[in-house]
Amino acid sequence: MELKKVIENRRSIRAFKKTNVSNEIIEDILNCGRLAPSAKNRQPWYFVIVKDEIKDKIADLMLNDTINNTKEERKKLKCPSSVTPTAKVIKEAPILVLIFRDKDDNWNIGDSLSIGACVENICLRATDLGLGSLWIRDIVYVADEVAKMLNHEDLDLNCAVSIGYPNQSPKARPRKELKDIIEWIS
Ligand SMILES: Cc1cc2nc3c(=O)[nH]c(=O)nc-3n(C[C@H](O)[C@H](O)[C@H](O)COP(=O)(O)O)c2cc1C
Repeated sequence: MELKKVIENRRSIRAFKKTNVSNEIIEDILNCGRLAPSAKNRQPWYFVIVKDEIKDKIADLMLNDTINNTKEERKKLKCPSSVTPTAKVIKEAPILVLIFRDKDDNWNIGDSLSIGACVENICLRATDLGLGSLWIRDIVYVADEVAKMLNHEDLDLNCAVSIGYPNQSPKARPRKELKDIIEWIS
């Protein structure tokens, strides 16, 4: 697909078909993530792909977290109400890509921006291949538990992406008008 069309057609997808996604397709998508630019070319990412029961256990951690904490406790933890619906999307999508970073690194804002570039490449390539994706930050509320479950306490979970064949075609979500967010100075 033409790049501009891919950018225009990408949506956050929250309903997925059960259809399996091949390992080759997932590796193609993650390869596009790997090719993203990064501050000082540090490439501060490490991908762990989870499916089936392990993926569902991660979603359950998120659901249990919201069940076990009162509204007040969740407010204190700054745990948003979107965690429960996001966990349900994780269960529905056949693939969850966890995006980790090194723990003992001198993490800085440049690395956060780099991960953003990497994840956007992932989401765009998924769209290009006819797949749907959801960029997920809500998973960080169970980051330590997920790292422990996967024997990856050496890494920090930054975010995740659900991937699968879409079972919905949402309209484009609203965006600010270009004229309201640009300024030419000469
Ligand atoms: C950094 C980041 C984190 C996000 N985290 C979540 C999330 O945890 N759960 C969710 O349902 N959507 C999440 N989203 C998706 C946004 O809600 C979505 O991109 C936005 O509403 C615009 O919709 P669109 O992607 O369809 O254009 C996230 C998006 C970004 C860029």
